[in-house]
Amino acid sequence: MKIYIGSDHAGFELKEILKKHFCAAKEFEDFGTFSNESVDYPDFAHKVAESVVTDPENIGILICGTGNGMAITANKHPNVRAALCWSPEISTLAKQHNNANILVLPARFIDTELAIKTVESFFNAEFEGGRHQNRINKIDLQ
Ligand code: RB5
Repeated sequence: MKIYIGSDHAGFELKEILKKHFCAAKEFEDFGTFSNESVDYPDFAHKVAESVVTDPENIGILICGTGNGMAITANKHPNVRAALCWSPEISTLAKQHNNANILVLPARFIDTELAIKTVESFFNAEFEGGRHQNRINKIDLQ
């Protein structure tokens, strides 16, 4: 399983930290941004979301200042379930109950250690299926 990752300038440093921390365990495909220079978060959210839709066995990580811009944009894509998470408990439930396929982090509102634990929990959690699958089946509008 590959991890598609993207951020804007606000999430750039955390993106680099996460890649470095998890590089032994996970393969990353990085869609940018690649510096602290100001950019527009939808450009990166769309790339990661499109990749997750094309290769559903893979998952995504998106990072911006609040996480909201990335989550709002990614969730425009049918079959994307992007979950804004700021604790390991929330990221675990995002996978167990929502089968989230993109984890979104709020770089300006989470410290590095907590962000790492939040990502680790997301990686380790498994979708529970059952009643949660019935609910997921009702999300997309078409
Ligand atoms: C960038 O300043 C900031 O607006 C962006 O990172 C994000 O928080 C948007 O949702």
